[in-house]
Amino acid sequence: MGATLHFAERLVWQSKCCYLTQHGKFAVYEAERLMPDSTHHSEPSPDPTADQWIDVAAVDAVPEAGAIEVVVKGEVIALFRCDGQLFALDGLCAHQGGPVAQGTLGKTDGGNPCVTCPWHGWQYELETGIQTINRQPLQRVFPVRQQGDRIEVQLV
Ligand code: FES
Repeated sequence: MGATLHFAERLVWQSKCCYLTQHGKFAVYEAERLMPDSTHHSEPSPDPTADQWIDVAAVDAVPEAGAIEVVVKGEVIALFRCDGQLFALDGLCAHQGGPVAQGTLGKTDGGNPCVTCPWHGWQYELETGIQTINRQPLQRVFPVRQQGDRIEVQLV
């Protein structure tokens, strides 16, 4: 592979470079692409923060059938407890940014825990972030776990 890339290859090359540039890996990828015979075969390393659990609250801060709002690295996160299980959703409603943690907890017709946004009534399943009317996963959800007496989330 030299500097004369086929047009379609250039498109792929450009799109991958844009993606990798966001993650600081542009230089590594470019070297591999332009020098295929090189013995340098380093793989793009995964984002080191991708699987990082972040301590966000005490376990007893989230009561059964209740919720709190926390801000983690600039993300507003709504933490819920329903039937003893913890859930973490984007704290800003996908509709117009309403405070999801101040919504009403309930169950869908299928028995899944859900929250209804206090502003205009959009309803989301807590486990999936699916909007219960149009069945689209509109609300971000985050992995959440209990570690001892603390709650941790991942910003993925
Ligand atoms: S802002 Fe949540 S339903 Fe409109």
